[in-house]
Amino acid sequence: MFKVLIAGAKGQVGTELVKAAPAGFTVLGFGSDQLDITNKQQVAAVIALHQPNLIINAAAYTAVDKAESDVAQAFAINEQGVAWLAEAAQAADIPLFHISTDYVFDGNAASPYTEADPVNPQGVYGASKLAGEQVLAKTHSKHIILRTSWVFGAEGSNFVKTMLRLGKERDQLAVVADQQGCPTSAASIAQALWQLAKVYKQQNSLPWGIYNFCNATASNWHAFALEVFKQGLVLNLISKLPEVKSITTADYPTPAKRPAWSVLDTNKIEALLGYQIPSWKVELASVLQQLKD
Ligand SMILES: NC(=O)c1ccc[n+]([C@@H]2O[C@H](COP(=O)([O-])OP(=O)(O)OC[C@H]3O[C@@H](n4cnc5c(N)ncnc54)[C@H](OP(=O)(O)O)[C@@H]3O)[C@@H](O)[C@H]2O)c1
Repeated sequence: MFKVLIAGAKGQVGTELVKAAPAGFTVLGFGSDQLDITNKQQVAAVIALHQPNLIINAAAYTAVDKAESDVAQAFAINEQGVAWLAEAAQAADIPLFHISTDYVFDGNAASPYTEADPVNPQGVYGASKLAGEQVLAKTHSKHIILRTSWVFGAEGSNFVKTMLRLGKERDQLAVVADQQGCPTSAASIAQALWQLAKVYKQQNSLPWGIYNFCNATASNWHAFALEVFKQGLVLNLISKLPEVKSITTADYPTPAKRPAWSVLDTNKIEALLGYQIPSWKVELASVLQQLKD
């Protein structure tokens, strides 16, 4: 049996990874309570005990604004934790699939970011995620870094669930319209990672490196909110459409600076996966249906 160890198995992406494990794979899913990636001894011991064939790291410090005042913890998890996993994977000669973010970019590009474009994170979270990418690339050649963006799903907290809650509570709300990016379902990220795992299992190799992954097509938070409400109303998840005012980033100051435009070019991963990545609107319909059930 081909064993896949998942760190951060109780997060948005981790949960979907565990749910979507294909036939022929044994999933060893660990939450932070069972495997703390910042604990070097624990990482080494868990890997020695279970002897996985592949590690997927879905664990991360993801509180973008909190990271600005919690720098040490953000780097402990997003850089040091990745380093311990990379060292252990290297020692066991097994691949490490890791997830990163569009927030490694500054958002000043004029066309979708490719994997080769220069990075320039604007906040602590992005900087800590970039440090994690770099330590992984330096430590262990057998790695996949999947950069994704604006993750939503039925589990955990995310923009979709926040909008549904606000849509129930309020008649009016204001959402930022001048940040462009690609909403991406946790389930579609899990599907891509499992597809890569299948290829690796068959071929005992992969074209290692960085890949962008996000759902089609680019949107902004205001348009994303409108779609959540439109689909949510049809499914009776809300009883009426709230009025959604469009505001600017300057109207809604946050501790962390976010890229204004972080659309990812996904040609490289689509060629490797052999399928076209689904639209976020279709993925949203599936997540809303799960929230209804
Ligand atoms: N969310 C987004 O919009 C977004 C966008 C772009 C990229 N990403 C990337 O996508 C990946 C998955 O994100 P997500 O949205 O699934 O995040 P999430 O829901 O916040 O899940 C992260 C998980 O990591 C766990 N974790 C935190 N510290 C840990 C530690 N020291 N050891 C082990 N586990 C630990 C958390 O457990 P506890 O809750 O118990 O601490 C949580 O279950 C991350 O790499 C993230 O950077 C996310």
